[in-house]
This record gives sequence, C-alpha cells and structure tokens, in this order.
Amino acid sequence: MEDLVGTVVREDIRAWNAYPVPVAEGMIKLDAMENPYGCSSALRARLSSTLGELALNRYPSPSAVQLKRQLGALMGLADDTPAMVLGNGSDELIQMLALAVAKPGAVILGVEPSFVMFRSIAQLAQVNFVGVPLEPDFSLNGPVLLEAIARHRPALTFLAYPNNPTGNCFDAQTVEAVIQASPGLVVVDEAYYPFTDHSFKDRLGRYPNLLLMRTLSKLGLAGVRLGWLCGPAEILAEIDKVRLPYNISVLDQAAATVMLEHRAELQAQVEAIVQERGLLASALRTLAQVTVFPSAANFLLFRVPRAGQVFDGLRHHGILIKNLSQAHPLLQGCLRVTVGTPDENRAFLDALSRVLDSQ
Ligand SMILES: Cc1ncc(COP(=O)(O)O)c(C=O)c1O
Repeated sequence: MEDLVGTVVREDIRAWNAYPVPVAEGMIKLDAMENPYGCSSALRARLSSTLGELALNRYPSPSAVQLKRQLGALMGLADDTPAMVLGNGSDELIQMLALAVAKPGAVILGVEPSFVMFRSIAQLAQVNFVGVPLEPDFSLNGPVLLEAIARHRPALTFLAYPNNPTGNCFDAQTVEAVIQASPGLVVVDEAYYPFTDHSFKDRLGRYPNLLLMRTLSKLGLAGVRLGWLCGPAEILAEIDKVRLPYNISVLDQAAATVMLEHRAELQAQVEAIVQERGLLASALRTLAQVTVFPSAANFLLFRVPRAGQVFDGLRHHGILIKNLSQAHPLLQGCLRVTVGTPDENRAFLDALSRVLDSQ
C-alpha cells in the first residue's frame, strides 16, 4: 500500500497535514466562531416540515435563483437577480478562485496572520502564496503591501475584513489603495459582516477587480455550508466554470431559504453576541495578566503569559478555545475565544481566572 500511495499521490499532499478539528464532545465549545444559539422551536418545526417535503431523488438547482435573490436582499443589493457564485461554505469559493487563477508562475497574496485557508488552498492548488506580515498591532503596513503587489503582481489577493484571527477591520483607505494598485483580483472576505457596520459592499462595481465574499456560517448557519461571491458578472462567470454543478445540496438550499425568511431571529442573536462581546472584553480587561485586542467580529484575541499552559488549563476545566501562540510570530502568547452565550462566557471567565491564579 505504501508503494501504491508513493507512486500515485503528489509528494506535497503526502507531506500535508489535514486541517485539524479538535474533539469538543462534552466541552463548552468556543473555538470556531460559531453562533452559540440554536433556533427557536417554532423555526425548527418550520424547518423540519420544509425539509420533509423535499425531492431528495432530484439533483439540486444549480442556479439557485431564489436563494441568490434572498442573499442579495440580505445584503441590501438593489439588483433583483444579483450576479453571484455560491460555494459550499466560503472555503469552497477560495478553492474555486485559486483553481481559476492557477496558471504556471501565478501568485496569490495575503497578509499574515490571517485566515489560514488562503495559504493552504493556494498551496493545494499549486499556486505560490506570498504572505505579507501585518504590523505588531495587526494593522496593514500600506507601503510594504503595495511594494509586495508591485513586485509579485498577484493574480489574486485576499483580505479578510474583519480579519481572522486578529478581529480588527483594516484601514479602509489602505484596502482601497490595494484594490487600485492590484493587477489581479482582490477578494474582500467579509465572513464576519454580521458583527460590524464596516463593509466594502458599497464599493462593489466601483472597481473592475473587486470581489466580495460572504458566508452564512458566522450568522448562525455554519452547519449549512453556504458562502457567496459578488462582483463583476464577467469575472464571476469564469469562476463559476470551476464550480461543481451541484455544489449546494437540496437540503442546504432549502434550509438556508427557510432561515433567511426568518432572519429577524438570527439578527436578534447577532445583537446579543455583539453585546456579549463588549461585556466579555471589559471583563477580560480587568484581569491583570491579559491584553485584549479590539474586535469587530464574534471572537476576541487576547495575549497571556504562558499561553500554552493557559489553553491546557482551560481545556482541563471543559472550555475549548483556540491556541494561536505558535501560529505566527506576531501571535506569540495569543489565544482566541469565540463569544458564547452569557453562561458560556461566565464559565470561560471563571475558568480563566482560576487558571491564571494557579500559575
Ligand atoms: C475570514 C474567514 N473566511 C472564511 C471562513 C470560512 O467560512 P465558511 O464556513 O463559509 O467556509 C472563515 C472561517 O472561520 C473565516 O474566518
């Protein structure tokens, strides 16, 4: 078997580590930026009756016109049939984009630290990835970024806005300068749009190379797997050729449609999360050894001494967060916690105080 694998599988894939998803059973799960609230029993009943009626023997609609219309309305787009490519989560859109630009010698550019899938997917698509470091306060270094764009001429640039795992929104003027200076496509990834008023939505159409990517995952539907890409129709038509024809299942399309019809329920949850984010940040700031970074998303990045031990201590208390202390030199000592329900946040804060006191 070893021989067979060695003969047929790409060397870089053999050396690859699959995306790690830690076991979270029985734990308070604050590691993956999920919405902690489920849906109401009324909405559950509505979902189960709708899903029960579906024709699962049929392939899903490849164009998903109704769903695109709803997503356009969610974004407040004027167009009734917005140009859009749907992905099985925005992860899949990142993959489609990388495959579409994967000419020999092409470069994908991003900043670091940022969402790790930008680099991983570029590597899997065998496209060179250039990661430009952020400043120590996680802001963009405009001159360095523009210099990297001039030198590498990237076919594709990713900027997450707000950024994951740092939580901040970059300076909009610098992002705009990047879009203007880029010879290739620039994707502004607004996965965390529900939690901030900042967006590049109004700049769509102003730049021929600007694409906007969003997802329902952080709004509350991480299990549904639906992301979408907006931008100039001619570019989207090319990206759409890379999409597998039935990438959004019948179940996903129907569940997203029902949930979007009841989006007021999700919006109320978002407001609760934003309020809890403020309370959690204030509580963390009262802890002497903790430095909290500003966040426009549904998580907080914070720095503590002996972060690895703190992470293990929290896990011992049944709290799962994300240890980023080894992920990038700028993240030394950093941990990331997703904003949970008030009870979950209280349990996290209690456990954190105990762990810090015991050090
Ligand atoms: C910046 C950013 N973009 C995209 C994603 C992926 O989202 P999806 O669940 O839609 O694949 C994430 C997930 O954490 C993210 O942080």
